[in-house]
Amino acid sequence: MTAVNALLLFLAVAGHTKIVVEAINRLHARRLRESVLKGTRHVHDVLILLFPLVLLWWPGLSGPRLLLGGSWTDLPTFGWVLLGVCWLGAAGLAVSSVLWWTRSAPSVQTAYESNVVDVETRLGRKPLADGPYRWLANVPGNQAFQFDVVERTFRLPGLPAALDGLSILHLSDLHYIGTLERAFFDEVMAASRELEADVAVVTGDVVDDNRLLDWIPATLGTLSAPLGRYFILGNHDWRYDQPGPIRDAMTDVGWTDVAGRAVPLSHAGETIGVGGDERPWMGDAPNFDDVPNATFRLLLSHTPDNLGWARRQRVDLMLSGHNHGGQVVLPVFGPVYSPSRFGCRYAAGAFDRPPTTLVVSRGLSGQHPLRLNCRPEIAKLVLRSAAIEEEHAATAAVASHAAPSMMEP
Ligand SMILES: [Fe+2]
Repeated sequence: MTAVNALLLFLAVAGHTKIVVEAINRLHARRLRESVLKGTRHVHDVLILLFPLVLLWWPGLSGPRLLLGGSWTDLPTFGWVLLGVCWLGAAGLAVSSVLWWTRSAPSVQTAYESNVVDVETRLGRKPLADGPYRWLANVPGNQAFQFDVVERTFRLPGLPAALDGLSILHLSDLHYIGTLERAFFDEVMAASRELEADVAVVTGDVVDDNRLLDWIPATLGTLSAPLGRYFILGNHDWRYDQPGPIRDAMTDVGWTDVAGRAVPLSHAGETIGVGGDERPWMGDAPNFDDVPNATFRLLLSHTPDNLGWARRQRVDLMLSGHNHGGQVVLPVFGPVYSPSRFGCRYAAGAFDRPPTTLVVSRGLSGQHPLRLNCRPEIAKLVLRSAAIEEEHAATAAVASHAAPSMMEP
């Protein structure tokens, strides 16, 4: 019986941890200053470390003495309430783990390819400078010095046939903070250039330390895309320094700032409305009605939390970052920390939420140089038109109907 009691108390600890982590995730989704968030993280640390000791002492070793052969009937009402809430948290943990393991790519994603670039191997050393949290770089299994070159192909119902084959380079969350050397980002840019996408986008969190603004022309400034380069900023650009200099540095090297507005991108006789959303940290939502002739709506939103708004605006494709894939993905439980109102639901990946297809990048870096089972990524998104495929299918059907059959007399 004592072993069962120990298991139940262990589950309560797991559930308590889940509840505290979920609270932290949701707080970090809000527009709160770093000093406030730092305080909440300290509270989180204390709660997670102390709670097991509290349960061990009471009701484990004192009071009902559940770990010493005591009885649950001696547990007072508030103990039942406390443990009951924690067990609900444990049930939530079980559900989120099952959802993680049973997740699948959305049907609109028709192909996925990924290749690893190991920058540490290429350079023969870790591209590690003297920035914050440098010590995390030596955690065994850390993938912070690698990145995936991902290619996703989507078959989108809202894509006009004339835009079939359009490709987008998606970069996010570069976090120039000075812990990863610029050499890492030089490799990222070289791989990005090789992808030769039609359009390039950055979905925020570019610079954490404004002393590194001159990295922008040397890195993102070297990218080109024949149909345009568009960017928004993120909460780190807002949090640590005034975002103005970052915007200026990006626009100075030819990137188009679409924060809080929608602009037309014309190609092959069609018009794409490209909008940018930096809420809840900065500005307003873009007004896609400013591009009335748009036949396709592309939204850059730093956080995927704006998905509901995007769907109401009939956005076809929404590209986000911010959640970094969780940065640490545990073997059984999946990602843990994801600063979103949805927790880890949109930590990274592709999601079909009609009429919107959402793609969340794992980003390239972060404030903490730690990645476990969650490699940084750059992505090329290739868009295929469902309309043109249907046209081809209809044409093929007509042709086969019209062709004489060998079976006919
Ligand atoms: Fe970020």
